[in-house]
Amino acid sequence: MTTTTTAPPMLSLRNGVAGYGPTTVLDGLSFDVHPGERLAMIGRNGVGKTTALRAVMGLVPLRSGSLHFLGQDIAKLQPHQRADLGLGYVPQTRDIFPSLTVEENLLAGLKRRPRSALDEAYTLFPRLAERRRNGGTQLSGGEQQMLSVARALLGRPRLLLLDEPLEGLAPLIRLELLRAFAQMAEQTGIATIIVEQQVDEALQYAQRAVILDHGTVVHTAPANELLNDGDTLERWVGMAVH
Ligand SMILES: Nc1ncnc2c1ncn2[C@@H]1O[C@H](COP(=O)(O)OP(=O)(O)O)[C@@H](O)[C@H]1O
Ligand SMILES: [Mg+2]
Repeated sequence: MTTTTTAPPMLSLRNGVAGYGPTTVLDGLSFDVHPGERLAMIGRNGVGKTTALRAVMGLVPLRSGSLHFLGQDIAKLQPHQRADLGLGYVPQTRDIFPSLTVEENLLAGLKRRPRSALDEAYTLFPRLAERRRNGGTQLSGGEQQMLSVARALLGRPRLLLLDEPLEGLAPLIRLELLRAFAQMAEQTGIATIIVEQQVDEALQYAQRAVILDHGTVVHTAPANELLNDGDTLERWVGMAVH
């Protein structure tokens, strides 16, 4: 007799409810991420995408619902404890230290790893190697984003949460970043959730997508299927892809 086993999800949010003050933003949100998976999370402005990532990271408390990561209940853990377990987060605002150089910013992400680990970041983002002595403020928007992502990666997360990493960047830089993300995913086996307004680019990067509306998942589909489903995108995201 043969048995088929499906690998359990690495992250699982069930019926998550969260908000700010009297406002409920996440309203029964459920989704899974599988090991090594690239998941796109899309939806109109204000539907709760950033709040969802913040709730996973522990920056917004869950009022109810359950959250498991690598088999462990993490709903009550502090953000730094979740980071230690393997969750990495690159917030929408690129939170690099502007007064520090590229290299100093990266050193701040090393935690207990040797300095030689910086080579991983420089291999993935050669642009950062060229600019290692430059101050954070001397970087272009794309380079700042690379630095944010590279620094998060040095903590060796198993799941990286990327909040609109392409926002405000020129098309060529977006392409370069997406290529670096794909290379990173292939080389490290890391799983990613990418939140994006640039829906077509996110769907090209991702394998699967969840669409949020009013703090809940309204549609789940393989990314390549959704790319060709203009009706669904028009309905829930309000934009056609080209
Ligand atoms: N710190 C906050 N305090 C109060 N309301 C907030 C805060 N952050 C976000 N919101 C509100 O929560 C809703 C969801 O926001 P957000 O999760 O940022 O959505 P998205 O990332 O999908 O654009 C919005 O209505 C937003 O105005
Ligand atoms: Mg947002």
